[in-house]
Amino acid sequence: MRRLIVCAAAVTAMAIGSVVVAQSPIATVDDYQKVMRSNSQAFGATNKAIASSAFADAKTQLATVRQNFVALQAFWADKKKDDAVAIVKDGIVKLDALDAILSGAAPDQMAAQAAAKTFQGQCGACHQAYREGNAQEGFKFKAGVM
Ligand code: HEC
Repeated sequence: MRRLIVCAAAVTAMAIGSVVVAQSPIATVDDYQKVMRSNSQAFGATNKAIASSAFADAKTQLATVRQNFVALQAFWADKKKDDAVAIVKDGIVKLDALDAILSGAAPDQMAAQAAAKTFQGQCGACHQAYREGNAQEGFKFKAGVM
């Protein structure tokens, strides 16, 4: 019975979709990797949409990245890693700056690309500090986080 209820809740969450429902908390390495893959997918799509002047699509994709960052902020706060929390918070500020550009009546494509690049620096800053490995062998946390 319990299983059924959990299942129903998951289906409801899926049905409502990712736009309204807050990102669920990150508890495991698996959860974390899902969020990162989502970052990579959604931010890649944001850049692509900006490149083809599909600014509304870019905004939609960016909203997913923002949700991920909100979940990341809670995760890193829980781990008491203030520097990582600062990187994430700064990321949200930069992301909102990009969102503001995309929300204009006639968004400036070059300004949007520059803002996207600035935001992306936050991905790199945290990976430098807390991620090890590579695309071939896989990525993982540096020691001392999980
Ligand atoms: C505050 C820290 C932090 C931020 C910000 C961050 N990452 Fe990560 N990311 C990590 C850590 C730590 C790992 C390694 C964890 C793992 O993969 O097990 C990781 C792993 C990844 C992976 C590999 C996932 C896998 O398959 O294991 C991708 C892809 C990725 N990040 C993309 C991004 C992108 C794109 C952004 C920015 C939009 C971003 N990350 C922002 C910390 C961060």
